[in-house]
Amino acid sequence: MNVYDSDRMADVLAPEGYARTDDADDADLVILNTCHIREKAAEKVYSELGRLRRKDGPVIAVAGCVAQAEGEEVLRRAPNVDLVVGPQTYHRLPQLLRDAARKRGVVDTDFPAETKFGDMPPPALGGPAAFLTIQEGCDKFCAFCVVPYTRGAEYSRPGDEVIEEARGLVAAGAREITLLGQNVNAYHGCDDGLAGLIRMLDEIDGLDRIRYTTSHPRDMSDALIAAHAEIPSLMPYLHLPVQSGSDGILKRMNRQHAAADYEEIIVRIRAARPDIALSSDFIVGHPGESDADFEETLALIERVRYAQAYSFKYSPRPGTPAAEADDQVPEPVKAERLARLQELLNRHQLEFNDQFVGRDMAVLLDRAGRRDGQLAGRSPYNQAVHVTFSGAEEARAFLGRIVTVRIAEAKPNSLSGTPVVDPAMEGAA
Ligand code: 5AD
Ligand code: SF4
Repeated sequence: MNVYDSDRMADVLAPEGYARTDDADDADLVILNTCHIREKAAEKVYSELGRLRRKDGPVIAVAGCVAQAEGEEVLRRAPNVDLVVGPQTYHRLPQLLRDAARKRGVVDTDFPAETKFGDMPPPALGGPAAFLTIQEGCDKFCAFCVVPYTRGAEYSRPGDEVIEEARGLVAAGAREITLLGQNVNAYHGCDDGLAGLIRMLDEIDGLDRIRYTTSHPRDMSDALIAAHAEIPSLMPYLHLPVQSGSDGILKRMNRQHAAADYEEIIVRIRAARPDIALSSDFIVGHPGESDADFEETLALIERVRYAQAYSFKYSPRPGTPAAEADDQVPEPVKAERLARLQELLNRHQLEFNDQFVGRDMAVLLDRAGRRDGQLAGRSPYNQAVHVTFSGAEEARAFLGRIVTVRIAEAKPNSLSGTPVVDPAMEGAA
């Protein structure tokens, strides 16, 4: 979401005469778009700000969730910051920067009544795989999580606004759109919620692939599960975080479901779309997590077998209930559990990827590869795929296209292979 937000900030600032640079030393303005989800991400902001300290340096803005959560505190800890702006008010950036030019230390962490979306220009930059935020905020208040405080209450953008933005992205070259939201499957901006929206997006000519992230098990509606069976452009990949396999910990986390409820959803999703690739987030060492609780997480992973996953040591966040708990898990225990968890997840991930060796897959080639003559992209199952062409010229011709690739090698985090189609034929298609 921060990638999407950063692009939108650039769009807002373009009419003011700002253009992007890849070189911070060359910049008149540097905006750090920050994440507050875990302590490590939040602390990184301050080391980055330290690096930016120089005489006659650029105007420095801190945006995102650290800005939202820490506000004035950012100015105290980092005296070189000119502007602190939370995620809800990016449409005000031009005015805020004018204010900051007059008087250093402007802070805007409002939750305004108007939404920024209505006041920001449509996305300007095209790309084959685009993001589109359709929902923000969260009302779920998991005990460990800062999101309900930093991103505020759940909000869904109106369906017609989303469709218009999607049409613009496709006109600018997008073949794939990933719908974003902290609780994207709680989307309620049109009839039938996210399932209804996906059906409308499926009608857009030239939009070949639709994805969405991230979802909560409680909002996995029958209509959305059915959409996975019925809508071919909806890719066979679902990121559905469970966090833990222990009912006791799920309760402590305020996740509002048991492990069995989650697994029942998985059974129904797999009935709708048998080949679906499943992904999850896991937290190890949440307050109160015993060895037995952790073993239950490993057991759930063994039963579900994920194609992909993200896992984290629990990080106490200011203002959240779990941070106040007196049964925190010691750091070495967290580290050991994380290593065991990731070992298992990596093994499953490699097993999932291995089954594609020797098979052909449709890959959307959306970026340059590591070497000349290589491109990288995504399979329908969201695997990263590295593709080697006969040369740089051939590779260039295929950028932005969906190409059949014969998979030659699988690693835990990627596949690699070569194009199957005769380039001349593909060019004529
Ligand atoms: N500590 C560790 N991981 C966290 N997440 C959210 N809050 C915390 C925290 N305090 C993880 C969850 C969530 C993902 C986006 O980040 O797994 O799904
Ligand atoms: Fe955080 Fe997701 Fe829980 Fe909301 S549902 S509080 S965003 S972990």
